[in-house]
Amino acid sequence: MTESANGAGGDAPGDDDPDATTIIDGESVAADVRADVAAHVETLADAGVTPGLATVLMSDDPASETYVSMKQRDCEEVGIESVHVEIDADAPADELYETIDDLNDRDDVHGILVQLPVPDHVDKRSVLRRIAPEKDVDGFHPENVGRLVAGDARFKPCTPHGVQKLLAAYDVETEGADAVVVGRSDIVGKPMANLLIQKSPVGNATTTVCHSRTEDLEGKLAAADIVIAAAGMSEFVDGSMLKPGATVIDVGINRVEAETEKGYELVGDVDYESATEVAGAITPVPGGVGPMTRAMLLHNTVKAAGIQSDVAIDLD
Ligand code: GUN
Repeated sequence: MTESANGAGGDAPGDDDPDATTIIDGESVAADVRADVAAHVETLADAGVTPGLATVLMSDDPASETYVSMKQRDCEEVGIESVHVEIDADAPADELYETIDDLNDRDDVHGILVQLPVPDHVDKRSVLRRIAPEKDVDGFHPENVGRLVAGDARFKPCTPHGVQKLLAAYDVETEGADAVVVGRSDIVGKPMANLLIQKSPVGNATTTVCHSRTEDLEGKLAAADIVIAAAGMSEFVDGSMLKPGATVIDVGINRVEAETEKGYELVGDVDYESATEVAGAITPVPGGVGPMTRAMLLHNTVKAAGIQSDVAIDLD
C-alpha cells in the first residue's frame, strides 16, 4: 500500500507489502467486533440478562429473506436470543404495527429490526416511528436520527457505523480528508455523511454527498481522498474516476445475472478490478462492508440490552 493522500497506512491488518493496494478485510474486522460483543453478552449474563433481538420480515424478496436469516444466525453465534416474525407481504399494515407494539412491550426483546423495504401499501415512516426508540437498533427512528445529527448518538446505523470501524481498523485518516459519499439514502448516505463530519474520531472529514442530480460527479470523485460508494448501482465507479491512493469503501451489494449456480453474482457499486489498480485501500464485495453491517447490529443489540437492564456496557 502506498502512503496515500488520506494517510491510509501504518500497522493496519494485511499491510505486508508497502506498495500494494490494501484489501480491507471486513470479515476479519467483523470477527473482532463479534468477539467484543460476545464478551459483553457474558457481562450481561452475569447480571442475569440475555440480550434479545426481534427481526420482522414483511416481504417476499429473496434477498431480504436471506439477510434476515443471516442476522438470526449471527445472533445465535454470540449468545443473543433471536425472535423472528414473518408477516404476509399482502397483509394489512396494521398487522405490522400490532407486531411492533407487542415487541415493544416484551421484556425479553431489547432490539427490534423491521427488514426494509416494506411493501408499498405500508408507510415506512410510520413503521420506523412505531418502534420504541430505545429498541431501535437500526437507529432509524427520528429520535435516534436527531441524536446522531446532534452528536449524541444512541444507536449509530449499522452500515455507516461499520464503515467507521473499517476506517479505524485500517488507520485511514479522516481528519481534514476530502470524503465523497455517493448516495443519499436514509440507511447509508445521510448517516454516513453525518458521522464523517462530526468532531470525533473517524470524523472531521470535509464531506460531500453526491446523488442523482449532482453535477460533475467525476470532478468530485477525482478530488476525493475517501470514497464511500452507496448508490446501489452496479460498478458505476471505476478506477479512472479515482484519485491515486484514495480509500474506496464499496457499500453496494447488487445482484447481477450470471452463469452461476444461483443464476446471479454479487457486485458492488465499484468496478473492483480497475479501482484496485488506483486505490490505496479498497473493500471487496462480498467480504467488505456486508459483514460489518451484520456485526454492528449485534453491537447495537447488546448496547440496547445494557441500556434497558441498567448494566454498564461500554460501547459507542
Ligand atoms: N434493508 C437494507 N439494509 C437494511 C438495514 O440496515 N436495516 C433494515 N431494517 N433493513 C435494511
